[in-house]
Amino acid sequence: MKTLASSVFFFVLCSLALCQLKKDRKCLREKVITFPELSTSNWVKLHPNESMDLSAITVCLRFYTELMSADPCFFSLATPSYTKDFSLRWLSVSKKYEMTIHSSQVQFDGLAFNNNQWMSVCATWDAKNGLAQMFVNEVASIKKAVGPKVSFKGDPVITLGQYQTEYDGGFQHTNIFTGFLADVHVHGQTLTTRQIKTYMEAKSKYKLGDYINWHNLMYTTAGSAQVEEKHHVTFYTKEEQQ
Ligand SMILES: *[C@@H]1O[C@H](CO)[C@@H](O)[C@H](O)[C@H]1NC(C)=O
Repeated sequence: MKTLASSVFFFVLCSLALCQLKKDRKCLREKVITFPELSTSNWVKLHPNESMDLSAITVCLRFYTELMSADPCFFSLATPSYTKDFSLRWLSVSKKYEMTIHSSQVQFDGLAFNNNQWMSVCATWDAKNGLAQMFVNEVASIKKAVGPKVSFKGDPVITLGQYQTEYDGGFQHTNIFTGFLADVHVHGQTLTTRQIKTYMEAKSKYKLGDYINWHNLMYTTAGSAQVEEKHHVTFYTKEEQQ
């Protein structure tokens, strides 16, 4: 009787909130995550195998969007030391990409942002010299100094589609991402420009992330964020057929 009562209780609890969360480990090759709504309850969390101890980082991802919020955030990594330890946003008024390293911000001008088109983005930072660089499609930014020259450390909370202003939460309406995200990879080193170019060209043999790997991803989806086949939602580009 006691077990029945507790399973009924769990069932009710589950149907109220918890079962909206879906945790999975999958290969998301040729798949996208769809963010269809301007809502702070739609997000995806990525779960790495280990806590962080990285002195350099590269984050690569592709997005496809129609700008719906002011400053959509693609990728947001918080640690106990810095709530904005590594994040990537687009600032629509100034038309710049913004990268945040250890909660210090730096902006990059003159890089493309097109509606309804796959955009490939890589961002690198190295604690050795404190320099950040961004790459969007075929264009490289200059290098800019940002953040204290210390490693990324501790258990990260990695969120796609929302901007964390707290360790694990604090989402704001102005930073909601809508559209498709794909091919999210996190590397514990700065990739070479040649490796980044291979990723940009979407060739099948680009380097997969050694910290977060889209082809072997542990993730949780919440709300209406969902996984779909890439060829069901957008047309193939010439490069991807190679
Ligand atoms: C995480 O661990 C799983 C299971 O051992 C492994 O298959 C996967 O490649 C690991 N992921 C990364 C990014 O190393």
